Amino acid sequence: MLWHAAPMMKIACIGGGPAGLYFAISMKLKDPAHEIEIFERNAPGVTFGWGVVFSDLTVDNITRNDPASAKTITDEFAHWDDIDVHIRGETVTSGGHGFIGISRKRLLAILQDRARELGVTLHFNAECDPADPKWRDYDLVIASDGANSRFRDANPAAFGVDVDVRRNRFVWLGTSKVFDAFTFAFEETEHGWIWAHAYRFAPDCSTFIVECSEETWRSFGFDRMSQDESIAACEQLFASYLDGHRLQSNASHLIGSAAWLNFRRIKCERWASGNVILLGDAAHTAHFSIGSGTKLALEDAIKLAEVLNRDGLSLEAALDEYQAERNLEVLKLQNSARNSTEWFETLGRYLRFEPLQFAYSLLTRSQRISHENLRLRDREWLEGVERWFWKRATDGRSNTTAPPMFAPLKLREMTVENRITVSPMAMYSAVDGVPNDFHLVHLGERALGGAGLVFTEMTCVSPEGRISPGCTGLWNAEQAAAWTRIVDFVHAQSKAKICLQLGHSGGKGSTRLGWEGNDVPLDEGNWPVMAASDVPWTPANQVPRAMTRADMDAVRDQFVAAVRMAIECGFDMVELHAAHGYLLSSFITPLQNNRTDDYGGSLENRLRYPLEVFAAMRAAWPGDRPMSVRISATDWAGEDGVTPDEAVAIGEAFAREGADLIDVSAGQTWAEQQPVYGRMFQTPFSDKIRNEGRLATMAVGNIYEPDHANSILAAGRADLVALARPHLIDPMWTLRAAAQLDYRGVHVPPQYLNGMSQLARNLKREAEAAAALRV
Ligand SMILES: Cc1cc2nc3c(=O)[nH]c(=O)nc-3n(C[C@H](O)[C@H](O)[C@H](O)COP(=O)(O)OP(=O)(O)OC[C@H]3O[C@@H](n4cnc5c(N)ncnc54)[C@H](O)[C@@H]3O)c2cc1C
Ligand SMILES: Cc1cc2nc3c(=O)[nH]c(=O)nc-3n(C[C@H](O)[C@H](O)[C@H](O)COP(=O)(O)O)c2cc1C
Repeated sequence: MLWHAAPMMKIACIGGGPAGLYFAISMKLKDPAHEIEIFERNAPGVTFGWGVVFSDLTVDNITRNDPASAKTITDEFAHWDDIDVHIRGETVTSGGHGFIGISRKRLLAILQDRARELGVTLHFNAECDPADPKWRDYDLVIASDGANSRFRDANPAAFGVDVDVRRNRFVWLGTSKVFDAFTFAFEETEHGWIWAHAYRFAPDCSTFIVECSEETWRSFGFDRMSQDESIAACEQLFASYLDGHRLQSNASHLIGSAAWLNFRRIKCERWASGNVILLGDAAHTAHFSIGSGTKLALEDAIKLAEVLNRDGLSLEAALDEYQAERNLEVLKLQNSARNSTEWFETLGRYLRFEPLQFAYSLLTRSQRISHENLRLRDREWLEGVERWFWKRATDGRSNTTAPPMFAPLKLREMTVENRITVSPMAMYSAVDGVPNDFHLVHLGERALGGAGLVFTEMTCVSPEGRISPGCTGLWNAEQAAAWTRIVDFVHAQSKAKICLQLGHSGGKGSTRLGWEGNDVPLDEGNWPVMAASDVPWTPANQVPRAMTRADMDAVRDQFVAAVRMAIECGFDMVELHAAHGYLLSSFITPLQNNRTDDYGGSLENRLRYPLEVFAAMRAAWPGDRPMSVRISATDWAGEDGVTPDEAVAIGEAFAREGADLIDVSAGQTWAEQQPVYGRMFQTPFSDKIRNEGRLATMAVGNIYEPDHANSILAAGRADLVALARPHLIDPMWTLRAAAQLDYRGVHVPPQYLNGMSQLARNLKREAEAAAALRV
């Protein structure tokens, strides 16, 4: 049936939460002729929860939509600026966060009054049953019945409902203790860690959400306690923050509410079916720790009312636009909310951090707040973090206040000047494996560009170990001499250190130059390839020979021979490439390895040969120079491939053999991979390996702004940050970042000093002009 957005509609809103009420208000404002009824199962004034927080942007939106209700709401806002993080007896306070909040009860009362004033009919104590035939009498039934929506769940297939029940337990309580700052209080107990998120929303009242892991929750016996007992236990646990004030619940007398909950992340593929339209939490939820559920509900309501009243728009088109536009916003927030949820679920990783870094990690957990955002909020606090970072990076010698990316890092006896790395990138420009003038200029230019560490491309240990005929190699004296020339240039003309990445292409070898077709076999002159098993990369690629033990010995010895030559060339560091589906990676991933001997099956077996190669290389490489290994931390294949949990074990295994750094890449290990791309998309794997395995890591993958690098480093998500593609078009990336951040300590080649100071001046002028415009 083709409906048209009619001038007058008869509408039922199921649920009198923020979504239902605000939609009714917004519809009436658009056209008072609409007949709107709200059905709320609870009595007036009875609701779950305590306070809700808003952002300035939401305030702007509701002010534009309905200045009258917005004024009443904003007049009653509680404002606060600081966040206090309490952990291990210390309090870390940062300012400038600018929160506004209101009691949920007051918000609903204001919206109810406004709805009545505009002629909306409100029914309380009215439990609605989706099976009731009376809903057919309405043009539209708005399912604004919250996260546990009966109207959505009556027909889950129609809406394509996806529910993700999260791991932690939480209970939403209130207290008369007034918290001046948004407070996070972490307490260690014999049962595990438990923490509170607390904030003031009225002059005499605060929200107090208590959260812990499922294991801690059970160990406390919360699963066996009555609500009153749970509350009493929480009062005791957080007594030092409550100053004698009591905790209270308002969930017990509510229909459909429980005390302790697991957060349910809800997504729906379709937001409308028949005459039922999902709104607010019924359509989507965002974890309470980013405080955006009410904002989303209000903004859904504004948008839905707008499209339904737009002239000339069919109902179908209106609903399509409603979902398309709102879903984009929801997905962005759900993404941030997922990061935040996972931070609390993996809290154990960060508890060893010093309180200052712990607080930084907490503040940047959703990745919506970055290093420079924090500088804008509280410069002094951020500079304290930077000083702390530099002190640690220099064993207490430096008192510098400067961006973390410029702090040095020591690996064995090698010290890199700063934390920015030029990631290995195959250039497909060598002849017979010999690097030439292109490589000299390419690598030399990037070293002059200020990066602390420059990686060579994957340099192959034998002619058959090359990916393409254009790959560099290190198996003969001519190649060694050519590399020496490059290494000498880097050392003489820059402060950069240079790392040789050594690899063997395995089953992905004998293919064309990158720009002539990635992983596509050569038209002619193919050479035979070998791998862990006889599994071809794709049906178009050669079937590799499954390596015999003799092959393994030969290839291991080739790696060792290359390492010996690398010493002569003067390389500062060597990396073993065990990622991306090449030879050693083909052992590690179960998707390429179907061996039934000691080198296949369990992770221990699959790692055996790569570890043997690494150990042999380590034995040949000087003890005072560092070595790293590049791994794919996931096969992007779910449980069928290498998982991030296994990646921690892989990192640990290489570290036991003497790896000083795990270079954390991902994927490219099987042709059917399903990667999830995005800004800094592989950094979570680095975070996991670094903080669960307690290993030094390098993060890589769509990191392109200085702000990304600084946020990653200060939050302890990696020790080094590698950039590949950004360096292809901007060899001077690090110098440009130094100019942008007005950091004077970076080494600038003397030939370029004039350019650097001019860039810094111009950028400063532009920033000042932009700031003046904002004022
Ligand atoms: C612990 C916690 C903390 C939160 N903190 C914040 C925060 O700080 N800021 C923020 O913006 N959001 C926060 N939220 C989220 C916020 O509460 C929701 O996102 C928001 O309330 C969504 O509004 P809604 O109208 O869609 O749903 P709800 O507010 O859940 O309203 C749904 C209404 O429908 C009624 N109802 C349900 N079923 C029926 C039925 N069958 N018949 C009749 N009535 C029915 C319910 O009684 C309820 O009144 C938090 C949520 C939780 C769980
Ligand atoms: C042209 C090109 C060649 C690459 N060659 C290599 C390589 O030789 N060895 C390697 O480990 N990774 C290689 N990579 C992967 C990069 O090192 C890096 O992990 C990836 O590009 C993601 O980082 P980015 O988003 O900063 O580009 C290559 C990437 C590009 C773009």
